[in-house]
Amino acid sequence: MARIGTVGVVGGGTMGNGIVHVFAQHGHPVILVDVSEGRVSNALGTIRKNLERQAKKGAIQEDELQEIVRRITTGTETAAVAGADLVIEAVPEKLELKAGILARLDDVIGEDAILASNTSSISITALAAKTKRPERVIGMHFMNPVPVMKLVEVIRGLQTSDAVTATVMETARELDKEPVEVNDFPGFVSNRVLMPMINEAVFCLMEGVAEAEAIDTVMKLGMNHPMGPLALADLIGLDTCLSILEVLHRDLGDDRYRPCPLLRKYVDAGWLGRKTGRGFHAY
Ligand code: CAA
Repeated sequence: MARIGTVGVVGGGTMGNGIVHVFAQHGHPVILVDVSEGRVSNALGTIRKNLERQAKKGAIQEDELQEIVRRITTGTETAAVAGADLVIEAVPEKLELKAGILARLDDVIGEDAILASNTSSISITALAAKTKRPERVIGMHFMNPVPVMKLVEVIRGLQTSDAVTATVMETARELDKEPVEVNDFPGFVSNRVLMPMINEAVFCLMEGVAEAEAIDTVMKLGMNHPMGPLALADLIGLDTCLSILEVLHRDLGDDRYRPCPLLRKYVDAGWLGRKTGRGFHAY
């Protein structure tokens, strides 16, 4: 089985910086690419803050922290990842954006390299079809917060090869994650199940069934969820939740996935959750 050395990550936002963090922590040289120096330096700042949090807890040593940071190099052009064995895109959840980046990456990376998408709902088969290597394109769906969450949902597109799937599964295990292989259907398993719950919680809020705090408390204390569905939506980003629900609604063609109008209203207002300081809760 091919072994993954250098990893490229395109997009240093909520998911991208966590992905860079775990690969660097597990010994991989990582190249982080984002569209501007400002975004790159924000991502590095977040990684350092999260590493310091782990150091304070004694999970990593101070000298280890410096070593992890040294494994990360950065760039503002996709060409910077040309030498990587595995490139993961983690840009916002828009089909045209992701497809354009994958097509560009396809032109610059080596022919044996694997192209992965961290998409939470967009068809891997459709993204793969935008490249000349559909058998080497796969979904590698990390969970937020990436350094903490054990799961990596590994999504096989229609043409993804067995060898590429095996390499990605093994790479995830080496990150101390638990990979689970799933087939390419809208929302995969994670968001096919999670998003209807979040959406229903927003309907409860909109219809006045209960206040946000009460809805979250019911699910936290009643179902032993670590956080309530509205707080979780704030963590994921309300824009991301809406994009995923739109994919489920459109691609499964079933009205049970229609996004709640209140979710759309919050996104229109720019209330996107933790990242903007306000969502269903204030931060
Ligand atoms: N980086 C590194 N460490 C982090 C971290 C980060 N970004 N965030 C939290 N931690 C660590 C903390 O340091 C702490 O470590 P110790 O256990 O060693 O003390 C641990 O994680 C727990 O954190 P906190 O004590 O701050 O808070 P908590 O106990 O309330 O846990 C939580 C926070 C881990 C986020 C927890 O509430 C949780 O598991 N929530 C559910 C998260 C979830 O469902 N994620 C999936 C979202 S869906 C998704 O991502 C996919 C998609 O497609 C939409």
